[in-house]
Amino acid sequence: MIQKNLFLRSRLAAATRRYFDENGFIEVETPFLGKSTPEGARDYLVPSRINKGTFYALPQSPQLFKQLLMVSGFDRYYQIVKCFRDEDLRADRQPEFTQIDVEMSFITEEDIMNMMEGLMKTIFKACLNKELTLPLPRLSYADAIGRYGKDNPDVRFGMELVDITAIVKDSGFKLFAEVAASGGVIKAIKAEQASTLSRKDLDGLKDFVAIYGAKGLAWAKVNAADWTSPIFKFFKPEEVEGISKAMNAKESDIIFFVADTPRVVNDSLGNLRINLAKKLNLIDPNALAFTWITEFPLMEYSETEKRFVSTHHPFTSPFLEDLPLMITDPGKVRAKAYDLVLNGSEIGGGSIRIHHKDVQSQVFSALKLRDEEARMKFGFLLDALEYGAPPHGGLAFGLDRLTMIMTRAESIRDVIAFPKTQKAACLMTDAPSKVSIEQLMELSLKIV
Ligand code: AMO
Ligand code: AMP
Repeated sequence: MIQKNLFLRSRLAAATRRYFDENGFIEVETPFLGKSTPEGARDYLVPSRINKGTFYALPQSPQLFKQLLMVSGFDRYYQIVKCFRDEDLRADRQPEFTQIDVEMSFITEEDIMNMMEGLMKTIFKACLNKELTLPLPRLSYADAIGRYGKDNPDVRFGMELVDITAIVKDSGFKLFAEVAASGGVIKAIKAEQASTLSRKDLDGLKDFVAIYGAKGLAWAKVNAADWTSPIFKFFKPEEVEGISKAMNAKESDIIFFVADTPRVVNDSLGNLRINLAKKLNLIDPNALAFTWITEFPLMEYSETEKRFVSTHHPFTSPFLEDLPLMITDPGKVRAKAYDLVLNGSEIGGGSIRIHHKDVQSQVFSALKLRDEEARMKFGFLLDALEYGAPPHGGLAFGLDRLTMIMTRAESIRDVIAFPKTQKAACLMTDAPSKVSIEQLMELSLKIV
């Protein structure tokens, strides 16, 4: 199986190179021994022998280099490149993975999205003989979260989240009324014709949503005239009718409710939706459902760091009309960022970059990065902005993830020739491994 997957991967890379070559892009290699810039994931560090006590970092992406290429006058760059991130691994994550990395200058979001859609069309034709219909659908971040609870929605099936806060805010069910009164929301999803779900299944789902912070999961089996539900007795008839109507519920459907903060409600119902779709076999394995997600928030508040952090990276351009919010309500500033999602998996993401020094300073100060700190970390980019940078932007696809979906592999390891294990080890060579005391001394390192 792995051979078959590697053949597809190779065709994918070949089609990518052909497409970019035909469209006037230049492939430029960027360094692997770079500088540690601790915004983002954890870096892999490489000690320097010549400059004792200092370290290189392996690149998490070629982000800063590709921006410098734009500043220096290249207008269409791409690279198929290894990236390194020391993160906890999952079924679709590896510590070293491959990006199809792109940057263009004198462009808008539309130009980049069009160029990338052309790439997808070329790749799917070359590798699977499938014709994609362009343009690909788009969804704003707010709609994605509102309707699917996630910024990587799987739109191969329906079961959308419905906000019923207005219907139940004065309900006899005190728990819902209290959540609504304290600024929370109540949302519901409907599993159609789900009478195969037993009472035991329904109780089990309570534990599932608890993973996402939900304090409970209410459910209602819809009958011809009423509901079978632990909470039916609390509702007035007009509330039952209002909810049934909002959900367009039919006999034998099951409605699930979560009441909590918007974050917990969207997170738990968004994941429950996927869980139920798998249980009830609602996903067509042949479907290819692409969605661009646009208008991401520029930054999000981090409870652990007690400050705003970039949703994408600190060079992402805000919507210029949102700039006044940077001081009054930073969480509301929208970013010129876009992700491409395929079958519920984020296969690529990018943004228009900031090309004005004063906008960059405003963003750094909203992120609570002091001037000298910003200069130490990204000084070379700030200097480049000072000399005048063209408007530019780009995107990177996860080549492994894309291959995974195209080959229907269960794990990212099935599309990589020598993958790392869950513990980030290479089974073939036994890396990582101990080194000799002489090697450590040469590097002035001591293991503690
Ligand atoms: P981002 O961090 O979103 O953007 O990465 C781009 C794409 O790379 C894939 N990806 C991964 N694949 C496997 N294992 C991982 N650990 C992993 N991490 C990311 C995803 C993701 O969509 N420089 C920016 C892009 C830009 O702004 O141009 C960047 O790296 O499919
Ligand atoms: P209780 O009064 O705790 O017995 O809850 C009554 C019903 O409401 C049970 O079916 C609970 O699972 C459900 N429930 C409790 N908390 C929540 C919540 N935050 N959101 C949705 N349903 C809940």
